[in-house]
Amino acid sequence: MQLPSNIETRRLTAPQGLPEAARILAAGGLVAFPTETVYGLGADATDGEAVARIYAAKGRPSFNPLIAHVPDLAAAEREGIFNAQARALALAFWPGPLTLVVPVAPTGAVSPLARAGLESVGLRVPAHPVALALLRAFGKPVAAPSANRSGRVSPTEAAHVAGDLAGRVEAILDGGPTEVGVESTIVACLDETPRILRPGGVTRQAIEAALGRSLPDSQGAEAIIAPGMMQSHYAPSRPLALAAQKGAADAAILDFHGQLAHEPCLARIDLSPAGDLIEAAARLFSALRRLDESGAARILAAPVPEEGLGEAINDRLARAAAPRGL
Ligand code: TXA
Ligand code: MG
Repeated sequence: MQLPSNIETRRLTAPQGLPEAARILAAGGLVAFPTETVYGLGADATDGEAVARIYAAKGRPSFNPLIAHVPDLAAAEREGIFNAQARALALAFWPGPLTLVVPVAPTGAVSPLARAGLESVGLRVPAHPVALALLRAFGKPVAAPSANRSGRVSPTEAAHVAGDLAGRVEAILDGGPTEVGVESTIVACLDETPRILRPGGVTRQAIEAALGRSLPDSQGAEAIIAPGMMQSHYAPSRPLALAAQKGAADAAILDFHGQLAHEPCLARIDLSPAGDLIEAAARLFSALRRLDESGAARILAAPVPEEGLGEAINDRLARAAAPRGL
């Protein structure tokens, strides 16, 4: 797959363009598609390299966890574990502008990169006939942030998407203007108390009515949630050193492009022996987790070039290396 720059962007129209859009997704390509909220920039959520290309196309400075879009609750329950509250919200608002963040199911296939390494997954069934038809035709979860370049407003028309992403995605599936215009409401159902992580298309009042209880005040949600709950990124438990030039017998090496291939270590994973930043991004979170569990006292990360997705990889590594509790 090419890096997302100077790609020929195909304009597809639903329903004729649906099979082609699904083929592009299956080949690891990017397809922008309409949902009822905003246009999404979709890729096969189970393919780490396809997901890495989303971040590259958006020019995201860091790897935020992405929403995995599925056609129905049954598909969602293969990806995540739904407690009673999550199921009640899904039954009340899906298809619709609600994203549920739930623990990853043992059968979950969404790639670690799309989850930013977390053991939770954001799931949504969009209420748009074109989105649902695409999800059914493709048959796997589709990871999709809003289809805009980082720092720009979310697109509600195919023309907005083209303005931002033409030349950076394989296809734009035109389904007309979107109806809701604001993103989905995100609710975390990770324990007995659901929490609104982001206000959006479904109101707090509607959510509280469906649950039959009031929720913690969303104004202060980030502040009042226990440390760790709001962490939107996986962090290893072992100390991590950046831009390492040498190994050590008790250390695990997170290598890139074979730079530390001959250094002493307890364990070593090369994010991309070939020096491919897309491949490195796709493998980052699973590699961190494996090295964290390797029994090594610390993790030494080789330098990663600060270009393309290297910027996001370095941002992630810098957060993982920062002292905890700050
Ligand atoms: O309406 C929408 O939600 C649109 C359409 C395309 O579906 N999508 C969208 O995606 O707004 P995005 O990437 O712009 O916002 C996704 C949000 C991020 O703020 C991310 O932190 C949160 O979802 N999120 C996803 N998975 C999460 C998880 N496992 N834990 C916490 N937050 C999560
Ligand atoms: Mg967005």
